[in-house]
Amino acid sequence: MIEEVRGALDEALKKVAGVVTLDELRVVDSEVLGKRGALAQAKTKLGALAIDDRKTIGQAINEAMGVVSEAVEVRRSALAHDEVNARIVGERIDLTEVLGRPTRGHPHLVTQAWDRLEDVFMGLGFQIAEGPEVETDFYNFEALNMPRSHPARSGFDTLFTDYRQVIANAGDESADADHESSVLLRTHTSPVQIRVMQSVEPPIYMIMPGRVFRRDTPDATHMPVFHQIEGLVIDRNITMAHLAGTISAFTKAFFGGDFTSRLRPNYFPFTEPSAEFDIQRPDGTWIELGGCGMVHPNVLRAGGLDPEEWSGFAFGFGIDRMARERHGIDDIRDMYSNDIRFIEQF
Ligand code: PHE
Repeated sequence: MIEEVRGALDEALKKVAGVVTLDELRVVDSEVLGKRGALAQAKTKLGALAIDDRKTIGQAINEAMGVVSEAVEVRRSALAHDEVNARIVGERIDLTEVLGRPTRGHPHLVTQAWDRLEDVFMGLGFQIAEGPEVETDFYNFEALNMPRSHPARSGFDTLFTDYRQVIANAGDESADADHESSVLLRTHTSPVQIRVMQSVEPPIYMIMPGRVFRRDTPDATHMPVFHQIEGLVIDRNITMAHLAGTISAFTKAFFGGDFTSRLRPNYFPFTEPSAEFDIQRPDGTWIELGGCGMVHPNVLRAGGLDPEEWSGFAFGFGIDRMARERHGIDDIRDMYSNDIRFIEQF
């Protein structure tokens, strides 16, 4: 009988050890410790034994059941632990993983140049102003010393929003009756100069960045929509030397100390004298950046200022061209193509 109990114990421990899941353990648990289990069955035979045997065998059976139930508990906690671990490993997500190309974007090249220009001029003590993109003939031309008959107008390839002005511009005077109110897309940021003079008391040290429009066919160096930054300084006793010094300080701050600038005589109706300004790269080559000059007395008057009291200078240049120059881009159209292979390089 004692052999039977020992055999049942061994058998039960082997079964418990062989279990690999908690579900299996639940089945084995009732198999080895339940009423139908070998040890419980052995108990039912105790009644037929002699008193002494009944005691020893009964004790052996109880001990065996204690050993088995302890083995079941040990196994249960080991399996529970394993299952939690398995679940943690299975649910693991690697958040550090980067699949393919990085997905963060960045500001457009022109926006980057625009922001940097604002930073540099703010560092030189300038404030920022903006004006409307749809302008009147008065602000875009008239107030800038370009009366209706002025030949410089034709150089601007203006986009009119009023159909009658297209005809008028082609020279049909009968369609010209209300040219005072004609509306157009501004061809430069210079009209903002007039708006600033009309609304701000001098001294004025301002830049006016913005989008401008011309009737141009896109090619490697032109877009019909592009960006300019205008500068306007109005104060007492402002001279051409202040203008040259400002351009030079700006050139070094924006491009680096190894760049220099120069002014070349030029003509603009709204400045007198006028100049074109160029910057020189460290390799000695020059690039033309924009126009500038001393604000014309007629322009000061249109802005509501007395030319006897106030003088000033103005400049204007292309932001897109600055971005191109900084990054060595051959074709300006690439900047607007939205081709990710091009854009993500910058
Ligand atoms: N508005 C001129 C242009 O678009 C540039 C300029 C601005 C020239 C200010 C002189 C002074 O070409």
